[in-house]
Amino acid sequence: MENSVLRQQIEAIREEIKENSKLLESSKHVYEQRKVFLDNKNGKISALMKEMKNIAAEDRAEYGKNVNELKQWALEQFDELDKKMKEKELKARYEREKQDVTEPPKMRYQGNLHPVTQMRETLIDIFEGMGFEIYEGTEIENDYYNFTALNTPADHPARDMQDTFYLSPEFLLRTQTSSGQIHVMENKKPPIKILSPGKVFRSDDDATHSPMFSQMEGLVVDKNVTLCDLKGALETFAQKIFGEGTTTRLRPSYFPFTEPSVEVDCSCFACGGKGCNLCKGTGWIEVLGAGVVNKKVLENCGIDSEEYSGFAFGIGIERATMLKYGINNIKLLYESDLDVLKQIDHYE
Ligand code: DAH
Repeated sequence: MENSVLRQQIEAIREEIKENSKLLESSKHVYEQRKVFLDNKNGKISALMKEMKNIAAEDRAEYGKNVNELKQWALEQFDELDKKMKEKELKARYEREKQDVTEPPKMRYQGNLHPVTQMRETLIDIFEGMGFEIYEGTEIENDYYNFTALNTPADHPARDMQDTFYLSPEFLLRTQTSSGQIHVMENKKPPIKILSPGKVFRSDDDATHSPMFSQMEGLVVDKNVTLCDLKGALETFAQKIFGEGTTTRLRPSYFPFTEPSVEVDCSCFACGGKGCNLCKGTGWIEVLGAGVVNKKVLENCGIDSEEYSGFAFGIGIERATMLKYGINNIKLLYESDLDVLKQIDHYE
């Protein structure tokens, strides 16, 4: 090839680099352009190098020198451009991330656990402190565990106390966490001390009832367990939830799975027992159901009722939450309205 043609080619590439460089806007562009010209395999300057073998011997030295010069020049061009782009990019980044330390901080509302979750965790903490272990049962139960084994056979009037969602003649959505008692007693020998929190379901819907709500079941089975032990445990719970001055009283009640059965009232923590709106003037608030485990229930689970006795209790977690925070409609706990939740949002 003519020497002048070769020189023209070299100059054309130099011009091309100059022209292209004007359009580059980032270090990434520079990197890509560098490859277009200097890539060992496909670069345009590398291609010129490969032409060497086609050059007349007497022109080879001159040609090689020119191509090398071009290469050197291109390298410097790209290095310089790269440096410039990186400086520009760093500056832009500093600008973007600039912090004015004198600016007042933006106050962000910090989220928190839902009040019902807080109550559930507080209850678990309290009873775990007394040595209770957690047993979480299943939300779908069969008739036996939810009713029959709990001394509530098919024709028992107490079944009407709980409107049940049946999934089939045999399976249902558990109406009470009491079903967990049976599973535990079937699988574990006394001493038993369990707490069973979970969702329960009933076809019931008004200001204080919801088709789905949560309960926490407690069960203790051992030798010589009495109603006094129950009162002691529940008084500790009441004081931790509603305040140190809280006292409890037991009122006779009826549950098929306990004998005797009691309703546990707490002295009204709003008025201290004098009588107010919350306690409807009585000075007492009904908090939960409990009792001494019915011998028939122990026997249903293969536990000798002459040797062992037990107590059980069931707390409505939403009910405890509503009492503690003075909420009069259970739906407020499910609507996730932040304006409502913020008012009761403090984690102890
Ligand atoms: N299962 C009862 C209910 O849902 C609550 C209850 C009462 C649980 C007395 C108990 C208990 O363990 O002893 O209404």
